[in-house]
Amino acid sequence: MDKLLVTGPCQLNGSVEISSAKNATLPILAATILFPFPVKFVGIPDLMDVGTILKLLQSMGIKVTKNDGDVVVDATKLDNQHADYLLVKTMRASVLVLGPLLARYGVASVSLPGGCAIGARPVDIHLTGLEKMGAQIEIENGYIKAKCDKLKGAVVTFPFPSVGATENIMMAAVLAEGTTVIENAAMEPEIDDLAHFLMSQGVKIEGAGTSRITIHGMKESELKPNPKSYRVIGDRIEAATFIIAGIMSGGEVKVTGLNPDHLKFVIETLTKMGANIEVGRDFVQVKKSNRLKGTTIETLPFPGFPTDVQAQMMALMSIVDGNSIVTETIFENRFMHVPEMIRMGSKITLKGNSALIEGVEHLSGAPVMCTDLRASAALILCALIAHGQTEIQRVYHLDRGYEKIDEKLTKLGGKIQRVKG
Ligand code: UD1
Repeated sequence: MDKLLVTGPCQLNGSVEISSAKNATLPILAATILFPFPVKFVGIPDLMDVGTILKLLQSMGIKVTKNDGDVVVDATKLDNQHADYLLVKTMRASVLVLGPLLARYGVASVSLPGGCAIGARPVDIHLTGLEKMGAQIEIENGYIKAKCDKLKGAVVTFPFPSVGATENIMMAAVLAEGTTVIENAAMEPEIDDLAHFLMSQGVKIEGAGTSRITIHGMKESELKPNPKSYRVIGDRIEAATFIIAGIMSGGEVKVTGLNPDHLKFVIETLTKMGANIEVGRDFVQVKKSNRLKGTTIETLPFPGFPTDVQAQMMALMSIVDGNSIVTETIFENRFMHVPEMIRMGSKITLKGNSALIEGVEHLSGAPVMCTDLRASAALILCALIAHGQTEIQRVYHLDRGYEKIDEKLTKLGGKIQRVKG
């Protein structure tokens, strides 16, 4: 297992280009199952999770051709509609093949993803939605066994705006008979990008990015191949991580290749804390600022503060003036970075789903362990500004969702060494 050795404190300066968003790439690649023709992409990020979804598609007999970020997925023909436990257990988003398989083939057997480190994360909202569209679903031997004659358009009202469930139902609705309306849909930018991708292949969708999405079901023969390659939006979570890294290090960092509207709440919060930030059309420039002050945040579905930036924000709150409070409302166990950060000198007290962070002067390097993707990002941020060396173990969590993060940070002036293991 690789580990990172980070020597701090260091100041980051320069410019960094953000990769395409992992959380948009995964559903979009799953959506290729719907199309009986090759679909072309540019700029697909080199991430472990992307490798997993491509392997999953290939395991069904789908042809994948890859040349760096140029990827062609050809689902003209499938050999099977089975998503095996061995692949699904490594990445929960594998469950996103369920909707498209069922829509195109009327049958799917997809391993139940099970829990993960940050919480139980059931898929009941996905399954109830598909049942509303006429699917018969049973759980057998750890697998979701789903079948239908033909999915039928329906009004699907979610009890909670689940990102994955919105994506699964949107994709299922593409080849359903009639129109589907999703009420209380998730509004994350990645949903909007999935809709754009589907529309680029001839699908008719209205309202993506709002809480009510309408998808007009089509016949397979009505879908249109697009000769142009699709580029997935920039990763707002990666961008937020680099923005926070720049602020924490006291340097000047230009983060490019994102839509700053996707980070409106994060940028507003950082500005309120005293960060000096310039926002352009497709970049965010962090400038030198005085020491920041503490604040209060609560994670919420988009457009609220993203749970995927909560850990990184807590890293920043560790070294600002005064106290901060973070309340996590999306996942039940998303404070696993806290004990590791405390080992580096952060002063954090947990109470239920809230954390009180008392700002300290500086952090100090220590051996720490990654527990999940965003927790790992928070540990790198702390390590960059901590005095001395930090050894970060289990960095495979980081490699799931950050493309070449150590190389990008090194280019900005970070002192990071990857030790292969
Ligand atoms: C997606 C993102 C993840 C992000 C999360 C919330 C991807 C690949 N992952 O995850 O990075 O942290 O959105 O912004 O895009 N829930 C249920 N039943 C369901 C579905 C969800 O109870 O059927 C609960 C989950 O356990 C969790 C909450 O709803 O507590 C949010 O889940 P959801 O919005 O579905 O997130 P994901 O799609 O899993």
